[in-house]
Amino acid sequence: MALSDPAQKELAAISSSLLSWFYENRRDLPWRFARTPYSTWISEAMLQQTRVATVLDYYPRFLKRFPDPSSLAKATEDEVLKFWEGLGYYSRARNLKRGAEYICEHFGGTLPSDPDLLITIPGIGPYMQGAIASLAYDVAIPAVDGNCIRIYCRLHSLPLVPSEQSTYKEIYKRVSSDLPEDAPGDFNEALMDLGSLICTPRSPKCDACPLHANCSAYLLGKQEDFPAKKEKKETPTEDHTILKIYVGNKIIVKKRPARGLLAGLYELVDIPGIKTSSEVRAFLSEHFSLESLPKSDSTKSGSEDSYEHSKDLLDIRPIGKSRHVFSHLKWNMLGYEIHLPAFLEKEAASLGEAVSPRKYKSLAFASAIRAYR
Ligand code: ADE
Repeated sequence: MALSDPAQKELAAISSSLLSWFYENRRDLPWRFARTPYSTWISEAMLQQTRVATVLDYYPRFLKRFPDPSSLAKATEDEVLKFWEGLGYYSRARNLKRGAEYICEHFGGTLPSDPDLLITIPGIGPYMQGAIASLAYDVAIPAVDGNCIRIYCRLHSLPLVPSEQSTYKEIYKRVSSDLPEDAPGDFNEALMDLGSLICTPRSPKCDACPLHANCSAYLLGKQEDFPAKKEKKETPTEDHTILKIYVGNKIIVKKRPARGLLAGLYELVDIPGIKTSSEVRAFLSEHFSLESLPKSDSTKSGSEDSYEHSKDLLDIRPIGKSRHVFSHLKWNMLGYEIHLPAFLEKEAASLGEAVSPRKYKSLAFASAIRAYR
C-alpha cells in the first residue's frame, strides 16, 4: 500500500490501531482455536442472530457429534435439529445439513476457499462467504454484519439504515478499501470484537475505543445517532392455547410442516386463540369419546369438591401463561395439562402422535413452547 496521500495514511492508521487493539484484547473463544473452514462455518452459522454466551454451550457439542461435512450430511434432519434445540432460527440448522450435502457432492467434503464457490453453497450468504474466506483462508474479503455497519456508520457519520441493501453495499466498499492484505481475517474479527465490546448499540465505551481519534460521530458527540434508525412497525401478535395431553403415560406431539415458521420441529397440540378450560373440554370432546371416562362417585368420597367433579374425571389443569418473541411475530400462550386414560390412545391420532416419555425427550421442540415442555 502506498502511503503518500493523507487518506491512505489515515486508512493505514485505522487498520493498525484496530489490529493492535485486537491483539491485546481479543476474546478467547473456542472457535478461534484449531480453526478449520468447517468449524468456522459452524460457529458463524451459530453466531448469526445468537449471543456468544449461548453459542459457547452449543458449539463444542455440535462439533463433537458432527466433526466434518460428511457426518453432518449423513445425519437425519431430526438429529441435527435436536443439537440445535434452543438456539432458535432453525432454518440455519436445516441449511447447514443441506450445505454439508452440497459440499460432499460438489467439493469432495471440504469447503472451498474461493469466495465465488463458497457463495454457491446453500445457506451461505455474503456475510458467511466473507467470514469463512477471510478467517479460515486469509482471503482479503469483507465480512459485513450489523457490528461492522454500526462501526463504519459512526466512523464516518453516515446516517444510513442498517437493513437496507444500499447501506450494505456502501459499507462493503469502505471495508474493502481498509482491509489489510496481510491480515484480513484478523481485521474482520477485530471489527466483530470492537462491535461487541466497545462500539455497542447503546452507551458505546468510546474512551476505550482504539479508533476514537478517527471517529467522526465521536468527535461530533453524536455516537448514538449513527446508524440511522428505521421507523418501527408494530409486531403482530398471535394467541395460542397449548395442550400437553397425556394418554396414559404417553404425550401427544406433532411435527410442524417442512416449510414456514419453526419448520420440522415438534410441538404440542396448539389451538388458535386463548381458551378457557370449558372451551378446551369442548375441543377435546371433538376428538375423544369423553363420555367413556369414569364418572366420579360422589356418595363414596363425601369430599367437598365432589359436586364439581360429578360429571366425569377429566383433568384439565392450567399450567400458566407465557410469551415468545420471534423476529417478526409475538406469541401469547396459555397452557393446560390434560390427563386421559391409556385406552383413548387410538383416538389421539387425529391430533398427533402419542409418544413415550423417552421418545418425547429425544425430540427437538420449538423453544417458543419451552414453558410447557
Ligand atoms: N460474531 C460472529 N462471528 C464472530 C466471531 N468469529 N467471533 C466473535 N463474535 C462473532
